[in-house]
Amino acid sequence: MKIKKKTFGCLSTGERASLFTISNGTMSFSVTNFGCIITSILVPAAGGLQDDIVLGYPTLEGYTANPVYFGCLVGRFANRIAGASFSLAGKRYTLPANDNGNCLHSGKHGFHKQLWKAQPFTSRGEAGVVFKRKSPSGEQGFPGNLDMKVTYSLTSDNDIIIRYAVKTDAPTPVSLTNHTYFNLAGHDSGSVLDHQVQLFADRYTPVDAQAIPTGEILDVAGTPFDFRSPKKIGQDIEKVAPGFDHNWEINRSGDAPNPVAGVYEPTTGRSMTLWSTQPGVQFYTGNFLSEEPGKNGELYGKHAGFCLETQHFPDSPNRDNFPSSILLPQDTYRQETIWHFDFES
Ligand code: GLA
Repeated sequence: MKIKKKTFGCLSTGERASLFTISNGTMSFSVTNFGCIITSILVPAAGGLQDDIVLGYPTLEGYTANPVYFGCLVGRFANRIAGASFSLAGKRYTLPANDNGNCLHSGKHGFHKQLWKAQPFTSRGEAGVVFKRKSPSGEQGFPGNLDMKVTYSLTSDNDIIIRYAVKTDAPTPVSLTNHTYFNLAGHDSGSVLDHQVQLFADRYTPVDAQAIPTGEILDVAGTPFDFRSPKKIGQDIEKVAPGFDHNWEINRSGDAPNPVAGVYEPTTGRSMTLWSTQPGVQFYTGNFLSEEPGKNGELYGKHAGFCLETQHFPDSPNRDNFPSSILLPQDTYRQETIWHFDFES
């Protein structure tokens, strides 16, 4: 296991962002402490050919704008909160309304735009970076001072593991995720519609025209949301135009990471399997990408990548029937999400 550190760039504040590359001899990934953003994942395929399988920008400047949330850690609350507000213990909190009057991914200045403290580590069969940050009470409108520790690591078994631990001094909603866009054929290979996806989820949360959950939790059987057996992303996508951008309820048994999804790319033979401790996963098929200028001069178009954002259900601070996303001072928010990569050699 090897870790390399270099300067990624300088922010307008004069602060430097670092880029860490972690390699296990077979595959590698790079992550910056600006927004805890994964900027590349290099994975071999048959014949030993390596491709970078995540969408992203060539430089730090790209990530300081990043309107599409490439690779980043999202928080305090991933996904949407209806009306950009919620009540907790009789008090109303107002959040940035950056998406049709709703709050998406905690607004433009969320955790994905912050510089985190970073400390690389190596242990037996695993190496990575520990990121730390304190989020003050009132940041993005949320109550409670947060103390956060997030670890991104690579194992000798080709797993990328993201572990999150958060403490608060006052009750507050917390739901963190990582917003990496994958294209297992290579970031510059076009559409992901031929990837085969399986979701270990019997139910999903339907949404209204603004992507806000209606509050129902429905059976996927007989709907385009049925991914219980592997199916091409493109098979039913036209029935849910402009594409999938929904939360599925992960089938769970216990607190250990549960299987979430399997994805297979037939032309390269690459596949990826996900596990998570979270109750939900947002499967998003890059519906809003439109000529987004990325790495190597690539212009990423609609469906050029997919995201599997493990999370609490969207709008859960306003929905009593969804699993609670409220973190209490006596508890610790913990999430573990594992991405395992396989390739035919
Ligand atoms: C999430 C949302 C999408 C979109 C992307 C970012 O996945 O659910 O609707 O906002 O983030 O472009």
